[in-house]
Amino acid sequence: MLELRPITEGIGTEVLGIDVTEKISNTDFDRIYEAWIDTTILLIRGQDMTPDQHVDFTRRFGEVFSYTRSKFNEQERPEILVLSNITKNGKPIGSPYSGRVWHSDGAYLENPPAGSMLYAREVPPVGGDTWFGNMFGAYEALPEELKARIEDLKVVISRVRSRPYNYPDRPAPTEQERAEWVDVSHPMVRVHEVSGRKALNVGGNVPWRIEGMSEDESAPLITFLQEVAVLPRFTYRHRWQVGDIILWDNRSAMHRATPYDETGTRRLMHRTTITGARSVRPAA
Ligand code: OGA
Ligand code: MN
Repeated sequence: MLELRPITEGIGTEVLGIDVTEKISNTDFDRIYEAWIDTTILLIRGQDMTPDQHVDFTRRFGEVFSYTRSKFNEQERPEILVLSNITKNGKPIGSPYSGRVWHSDGAYLENPPAGSMLYAREVPPVGGDTWFGNMFGAYEALPEELKARIEDLKVVISRVRSRPYNYPDRPAPTEQERAEWVDVSHPMVRVHEVSGRKALNVGGNVPWRIEGMSEDESAPLITFLQEVAVLPRFTYRHRWQVGDIILWDNRSAMHRATPYDETGTRRLMHRTTITGARSVRPAA
């Protein structure tokens, strides 16, 4: 029988008593979906799913899409992004490095994804954990005065400027990338499309700028808010076990990967991503 249990006081719901490869009734699914929207992440343990089943289960939450470089996508299911340090015939089978600073995915896009479902297939004995932070909680904890001050501010996100922070292992953006990667601006207080609740959108340890200000002028307020955003009471560090699924709401949660021994141990994660263009729950 379906059971929903908070992960911590500040973030997340653990979903128990389901097998995601079996039929989940609309009534049960509605409860799961609501818990996702309310608490920003869902944890479902002990699951055994094929790439097809992973994509099918993700589809119940929204439209699946892929915005990342296709060379790291699962061969048979291009909707699945492979995160791994494993190599096959000398070539990496997945992206070896996933965001080690606090971030939401695709923040630099006009339409960032609504969420992602990460599934653990192989995990190292130590490390490779993932942190999650609840941006509803972070926003709600701000003093009213500060809420009023940031209400109409916008953040300007530069993919070029963010690159060395998010991916220190990758080469600097090429001339062509610099030309293609235009800055985007998004509200600093993000109103959730489904619930209407407000979430803080300030990024992690990346120099985001406030619209109308220089990076230097923005820094005091932005860095303060970035620190509030990840106060321990709104965050949770997940130690992965094989078979764990975490679905995060990318509109209201940030996350961050942690290091592990990449030469002596293996990590293999599969990720699906839900488009941010659709704002209401799709029919089952
Ligand atoms: C991601 C990501 C974190 C991790 O998939 O977007 O940041 O721990 N993953 O792999
Ligand atoms: Mn990420």
